[in-house]
Amino acid sequence: MTVLVTGATGNAGGAVVRALAAAGVPGKALVRGKAELLAGIEPVYGDLGRPDTFVEALDGISAIFLLSGYERVEELLANAVKAGVERVVLLSSSSVDSEQTSNAIAQYHLAAENAVDASGLDWTFLRPNSFMSNTLRWLDQLRLGNVVRVQFPDIPVATIHPDDVADVALHAMTGNGHSRTVYRLTGPVALKPSEQVEILGQALGRPLRAHELSRAESHEQLFASMPAPYAEAIERFFGDGIIDETAVNDTVETITGHPARTLQDWTRTNTNLFS
Ligand SMILES: NC(=O)c1ccc[n+]([C@@H]2O[C@H](COP(=O)([O-])OP(=O)(O)OC[C@H]3O[C@@H](n4cnc5c(N)ncnc54)[C@H](OP(=O)(O)O)[C@@H]3O)[C@@H](O)[C@H]2O)c1
Repeated sequence: MTVLVTGATGNAGGAVVRALAAAGVPGKALVRGKAELLAGIEPVYGDLGRPDTFVEALDGISAIFLLSGYERVEELLANAVKAGVERVVLLSSSSVDSEQTSNAIAQYHLAAENAVDASGLDWTFLRPNSFMSNTLRWLDQLRLGNVVRVQFPDIPVATIHPDDVADVALHAMTGNGHSRTVYRLTGPVALKPSEQVEILGQALGRPLRAHELSRAESHEQLFASMPAPYAEAIERFFGDGIIDETAVNDTVETITGHPARTLQDWTRTNTNLFS
């Protein structure tokens, strides 16, 4: 069993790389730039937008941890089939549950799920809530002071630790009983943005305070920070409530045998990212 991890320099893929290394599972980490060993895992070059760039890297691979959202995914999957890959664990998202096919984010995750299903490869789809690492979106504001302007302040979200996504992915890639299964993954507790800010402040030892944006201000900030279809998608998720990231389930614990990690866990181990 050798695993290819895509998105290996990112929050989720990076956590999968570390989980593989800790478990002693052989793997390769797909990277776009030059890289040293990642947590002891060999980097291999590849661009998900150009599947021809990593045909050789698929040699000897039995499972892929795959990110959604790449237009030529069918080609990539056909290469994987040719190379003898057996299963794909796809990082999809909670947005697919909304069944909103006109929503730009739900749409690209659903397209990836459909492509993987059509490929004939065995699969597991992970549909996690928002990641705890999204806390990093407040970084620029934190450099300016202790006030964090938060969008959709009344909506509690059970954000998930990337390490928990990774642990579930590892089980799905290396264990039995996860074939053609969809896992909705949540964190352990739903927290409003102001509560998340408070937890971050405790970890950083700073008196952080949330400034709650109105719906109109949230709209303005969102559309200024990303392309309109994605801003609109997020506004529909949290502003209009078309996804439920407030409910908590025990899927992480059921699969991994350990409770889902808390935001306190994430902030404690990532304070260095805020300095
Ligand atoms: N954030 C959330 O709340 C959330 C929730 C549910 C699902 N998701 C899904 O999870 C995915 C990963 O999230 P994340 O927070 O781990 O993202 P991230 O930290 O931004 O990492 C993205 C990773 O993808 C790599 N990448 C980007 N374009 C690539 C390409 N063309 N070819 C190869 N690699 C490429 C990046 O590599 P470089 O270092 O080269 O840029 C990086 O390793 C998201 O894209 C989303 O689909 C996210």
